[in-house]
Amino acid sequence: MVNKITVVGAGNVGATAAQRLAEKELAKQVVLVDIADGIPQGKGLDQWQSAPIELYDTRIIGTNGYDETVDSDIVVITAGIARKPGMSRDDLMNTNAGIVKSVAEQVARTSPNAILIIVSNPLDVMCYVAMKASGFPRERVIGMAGVLDTARFRAFLAEALDVSVRDIQAMVLGGHGDTMVPLISYTSVSGIPITQLMARDVLDKIVERTRSGGAEIVGYLKTGSAYYAPSAGAIQMVEAIVQDQKRILPCAAWLQGEYGMTGLFLGVPCKLGRKGLEQVLEVELTPAERVALGKSAEAVREPMAKLA
Ligand code: APR
Repeated sequence: MVNKITVVGAGNVGATAAQRLAEKELAKQVVLVDIADGIPQGKGLDQWQSAPIELYDTRIIGTNGYDETVDSDIVVITAGIARKPGMSRDDLMNTNAGIVKSVAEQVARTSPNAILIIVSNPLDVMCYVAMKASGFPRERVIGMAGVLDTARFRAFLAEALDVSVRDIQAMVLGGHGDTMVPLISYTSVSGIPITQLMARDVLDKIVERTRSGGAEIVGYLKTGSAYYAPSAGAIQMVEAIVQDQKRILPCAAWLQGEYGMTGLFLGVPCKLGRKGLEQVLEVELTPAERVALGKSAEAVREPMAKLA
């Protein structure tokens, strides 16, 4: 357990993340921050009042400022607008870049040693905005996307094979968008290569559904985007850091030559521990996967170049 975790953005993703943090007792205190008057205070109080029933001692408070967040160990940034039907994640860029920049600047001032977990979209570009605005090293700015994309892929595979989600291992790399790269060669069911258990055309359909997994949910919700799985993904990363688990999870990391790329955030296998991003693992890729990862990087660089 750490002393304090702040969640910025008390909307669907942020509030659900705060509740998950408390239920897992990952911090003594959770601070929920939002610009909306009364929303973080009300949600924080409501969540704190769940404590005697759910049996956690994590104190949750909500606020509109950063005074209460001082010296947070970890800050999860979910502030920003969410997608509506017909929108791509890149359509959120200008609005969310301004929001994430101002949040990261305030966090850097009040919690200079914090580890940032970025959730706001377009994810890979928002990680860059947060790193630049905070001045934090890459070890302390990590994006949540691969964990979510992988969870979607694993859920679909488990359903199709009628097996436990626990036994599906998979890794989805690349940017958090239509160009993401599910690694078939590293997908298995308890070690059995997925290609032995599933016809290629069925697998291809699942890969396609994974790529548009976020849009499928936006299509249903209409007024916003997914939040149960995204918040679960962010908290899995927080837990790996708080408990120093050294878990290998696909996360958006600032590349410094890994996979032959530099100067962008992209989803790659990362080791997460108490220091944050402790290692980027370079795994062998098939020629097709390498090409797909390169294309995905281009899809991240393009909106990045448009940043004001
Ligand atoms: N500081 C703090 N909070 C802010 C700021 C800001 N500068 N600007 C906006 N917010 C808050 C809003 O007031 C709102 O409560 O961010 C919250 C966003 O909540 P939702 O609209 O419910 O969006 P949500 O579904 O939580 O998604 C948030 O995460 O997954 C991504 O694409 C998604 O970018 C989106 C983000």
